[in-house]
Parts: sequence; structure tokens; C-alpha cells
Amino acid sequence: MSLLSVRNVVAGYGAAPILNGVDISLEQGEIGVIVGPNGAGKSTTLKAIFGLLRVSSGTITFDGHDITNRPTESLSALRMAFVPQEQNVFKTLSVHENLEMGAYVRRDDVSGLLDRVYDIFPPLKAKRNQPAGELSGGQRQMVAVGRALMIDPKLILLDEPTAGLSPLFMSEIFDRILAINATGVTVAMVEQNARQALGIAHKGYVLASGRNRFTDSGAALLADPEVAKSFLGG
Ligand SMILES: Nc1ncnc2c1ncn2[C@@H]1O[C@H](COP(=O)(O)OP(=O)(O)OP(=O)(O)O)[C@@H](O)[C@H]1O
Ligand SMILES: [Mg+2]
Repeated sequence: MSLLSVRNVVAGYGAAPILNGVDISLEQGEIGVIVGPNGAGKSTTLKAIFGLLRVSSGTITFDGHDITNRPTESLSALRMAFVPQEQNVFKTLSVHENLEMGAYVRRDDVSGLLDRVYDIFPPLKAKRNQPAGELSGGQRQMVAVGRALMIDPKLILLDEPTAGLSPLFMSEIFDRILAINATGVTVAMVEQNARQALGIAHKGYVLASGRNRFTDSGAALLADPEVAKSFLGG
């Protein structure tokens, strides 16, 4: 059974649906990348999975549970983590405190999880006592992702983890996402840097107007001239 399965999901913020039947399926250990134009419903898809808006039809299953319209709090306990695009760190708290906050749902010893985060993001270890607000954009993004890793997730949802970063930091973050995935964490990621992101994707989804427009492996989507012409800038 797939770790995450989104089947024909219709959802929105008010009367009119934004998602008009989205399908996503990720096996344990995969990286899935969602791309598409502004307003396509990419962020809305992640929010629907994470219980942040109401699903009016379709089903979402995760790790054997039907989680359609389950409250967000219960998803952390099932080991699903979400890193939103904006406002994802506590700026006045230190790096270390931000990471500790991430472990709030865990009662047991979190030192092993902290070690894993510092292994994946060495710059955070060096800056562990600095307020997160003093870090560069790329390092703040590392804190946000690191905080999500503190629940020891099976699945991490990432909304545009490289937004606003320089090309150098962008490559660094993609590299770190591969490192996280190598520890067994399944990744579902929305990205504007579509070519680079599809380059590391086992599964790729091009959304348009709240629907799957193209669904294939990342490599197949990159090789598809129609996808390239319409969605990857030629
Ligand atoms: N909180 C909200 N309330 C009402 N409508 C919203 C809300 N958030 C997003 N929308 C609308 O839903 C549609 C899809 O938005 P969404 O944020 O999912 O797009 P996106 O694909 O993530 O785009 P972008 O690339 O700009 O991040 C847009 O028309 C947007 O205006
Ligand atoms: Mg978005």
C-alpha cells in the first residue's frame, strides 16, 4: 500500500472548489514533486493533506489510515510534518530552541533526533545558540526543515523550500532534501524551480487549475516536450 494516497480530492476555502480532483500517490521512500503555474492549487494540495482545509470529496490515506478531514494535530502523531512557505521559524528563539519546539509531540529523549538534524545541516550546529532571525534565508529554511524533522516524520510536506534563495543556497537545499530522503523520509514537495526539483523526483505532478495535468516520473516529465513548452519555459 502507498504511504500517501490522494484520490480525486476536491477542496477549497469557500463555496467554490480550488482543487477539482487531485491525485497523488507516493510509496515509502519516494520524493514527489508538485509543480505548476501560480494559483494552480499546489499549496492548497499540501494544506488539504495536512488537514488545514476541508476536503469535500475524494480520499486521502496515509500509512494505512484514512486521514481525510482529520485534524492537523492528529497527523503529527502519525508522523507527518509540514513546512509552510512563510513564517516557519520563531525568529527570537535560538536555532536550538526552534528545534526543541519541533519535538513537542514527543515525550521520549530527543537527542538522537537533534543529532540527526545537526548531521544533515552542519551550519545549524555552529549557530545553535543564535536567534533564528539572525540567520540567512537559506539557513532559516534549514531551521524550518530541521524543526519538522524533530517529530521523526515518515512523510515531510515542503512548500517551496527554495523560495527566495540564491542559486547556491537553492542547490544546497536540494542536496539536503536528498540527504533527508536517504534517511528513509518520504518527501512531498512543491517547487517553483521545476527543472531542478523534477530532477530529484521519483514522481512528478504538474497541476493546473486544481487538477493533475501531467503525472509521471520526474525524468519522464523533464523529457516531455509538451511539459517543457508549457510549464518549464521551453
Ligand atoms: N486562504 C485562502 N482563501 C481563499 N482563497 C485562497 C486561499 N489561499 C489560496 N487561495 C486561492 O486558491 C487558489 C490556489 O492557491 P494556491 O496557494 O494553492 O496556489 P499555488 O499553486 O500554491 O500558487 P503559487 O505558485 O502562487 O504559490 C488561488 O486562486 C488562490 O487565490
Ligand atoms: Mg503556493
